[in-house]
Amino acid sequence: MIFDRNEDKEVVALLGAGSMGTAIVRRIAAGRRILLGDISEKNLEKAAEGFRYGGYDVVTQTVDATDKESVKAFAAKAAGLGRVKYFIDTAGASPNQARPEHIVKLDMVGTGYAIDAFGEVMAQGGAGLVISSQAGYMCSIPDEVESAILNSTTEGLADIPYIRETAMQNSGMAYTVAKRVNHLQVMRAAATSWKQRRARINSISPGVIVTPLAYDEFSAAGDGYQQMIDSSSAERCGTSDEIAEASAFLLGEHAGFITGIDLLMDGGVIASIRTGCYKLQVR
Ligand SMILES: NC(=O)c1ccc[n+]([C@@H]2O[C@H](COP(=O)([O-])OP(=O)(O)OC[C@H]3O[C@@H](n4cnc5c(N)ncnc54)[C@H](O)[C@@H]3O)[C@@H](O)[C@H]2O)c1
Repeated sequence: MIFDRNEDKEVVALLGAGSMGTAIVRRIAAGRRILLGDISEKNLEKAAEGFRYGGYDVVTQTVDATDKESVKAFAAKAAGLGRVKYFIDTAGASPNQARPEHIVKLDMVGTGYAIDAFGEVMAQGGAGLVISSQAGYMCSIPDEVESAILNSTTEGLADIPYIRETAMQNSGMAYTVAKRVNHLQVMRAAATSWKQRRARINSISPGVIVTPLAYDEFSAAGDGYQQMIDSSSAERCGTSDEIAEASAFLLGEHAGFITGIDLLMDGGVIASIRTGCYKLQVR
């Protein structure tokens, strides 16, 4: 049976076919063609099956977000499928899942490869979204270092002395710095490569969202997470569906005047830290 006779469909590309990414795509992809990319064949197959049985048009490609050529091939695949209207990057590893070198390579440099590659294929009027983290609000990078980051190429990021010396200290530092750098990468792209394509790009910084990645953090982090949740205004974790709701807004036409920004969605954790109501224990 032919479920959909439309051929000329807009493309929604997702890099990192995990919990938050698939929730976002489900919210925006009806009537469009989905390209899912992930390093894990298993995750790809599971996500694609869910979309297929949900009535979506879905194509998959294995991609390693830390490999520039692999990411470029993924973007080229998206462009070959039609007008690339939306790109979402959720490929990442958390502090308890990886060593600092890998976090910098994936969450920072890999995100840069994706922003660069999709900055060459986005359709006019298209929009991108990078999933950063509330952790990006937990470090303060000196102004002159932020300027160097904003003016750096993606390849040059790992050579910035602050990244080499501070971010590499431990996985927690690597993660917070990488997630702050994501905000700056989005800002830079919005003003340069994505602007040239007449496309917008923003990021969302989620707080604690219950996904398998978060379970890895809970089990390794003692009672720090519980205290953080208890001292936040929401007094609960968030869900991927809530992130998807805000993502649909930022990607959609009602956000046509919004580009280059980060939206913090943390249930008030950062407010609690900044006001001293919760004392962050940096590991
Ligand atoms: N869950 C949370 O509480 C939380 C909070 C803040 C930020 N985040 C960030 O949100 C993003 C998505 O997290 P999630 O909770 O949906 O996690 P998830 O583990 O469900 O999804 C991440 C996906 O990225 C894929 N991936 C990992 N390495 C890759 C690589 N080299 N190339 C391609 N794909 C790769 C994984 O296979 C997985 O499918 C991550 O960047 C994470 O740091 C998560």
